[in-house]
Amino acid sequence: MAKTDANDAAAPEEKVKINRREFVNLAWLASLGFFLVPVGGVTVLFAFPRFKEGEFGGKFNLRLADLPESGASPLANNLGKFWLTRTEEGVRAIYKVCTHLGCLYNWQEQEDKFICPCHGSQFSKESTYLDGPAPRSLDLFTMTAVAPDGTELAKTEGPNDAMPVFDAEPEVTYVVDTGAKIIGKPNA
Ligand code: FES
Repeated sequence: MAKTDANDAAAPEEKVKINRREFVNLAWLASLGFFLVPVGGVTVLFAFPRFKEGEFGGKFNLRLADLPESGASPLANNLGKFWLTRTEEGVRAIYKVCTHLGCLYNWQEQEDKFICPCHGSQFSKESTYLDGPAPRSLDLFTMTAVAPDGTELAKTEGPNDAMPVFDAEPEVTYVVDTGAKIIGKPNA
């Protein structure tokens, strides 16, 4: 009987030891989870891009027929929030938001320039600042010309870059990346 009592007395102490071990294990698993969840999230973000093709923030695949003709008025792409303009240098995808305080500016055909209705900033067809309170030229989105076999033919990366148009190659794709903005050149 006395032996049994001694075992009974030891039992609660043993349970406490096991619970502590479990607690340590759980704490370790929880800390591992804190580490793995963000890492897993980043991996998922890379595997599945946030923006789909054809929605703002993603890429827009255009063909020659989608570009304005040389000397024509700019074309608005409302889904991508950009104007496509074409000059002798080539094509640009210009972000539709004014670089002053963020209003949507418009193309004024008679004046041959973009004019913002909010405070009157003006910009050329090439996106260059002309007049008004805006601190810089308009922002562009990067463009990449891709041949049917996937070869990259040209890419715009600077605030003055225009994408050459491959008129003889209608199968070329012009990719406008609305997730890759080129900040307009600051006013001198
Ligand atoms: Fe365009 Fe002020 S927001 S000029």
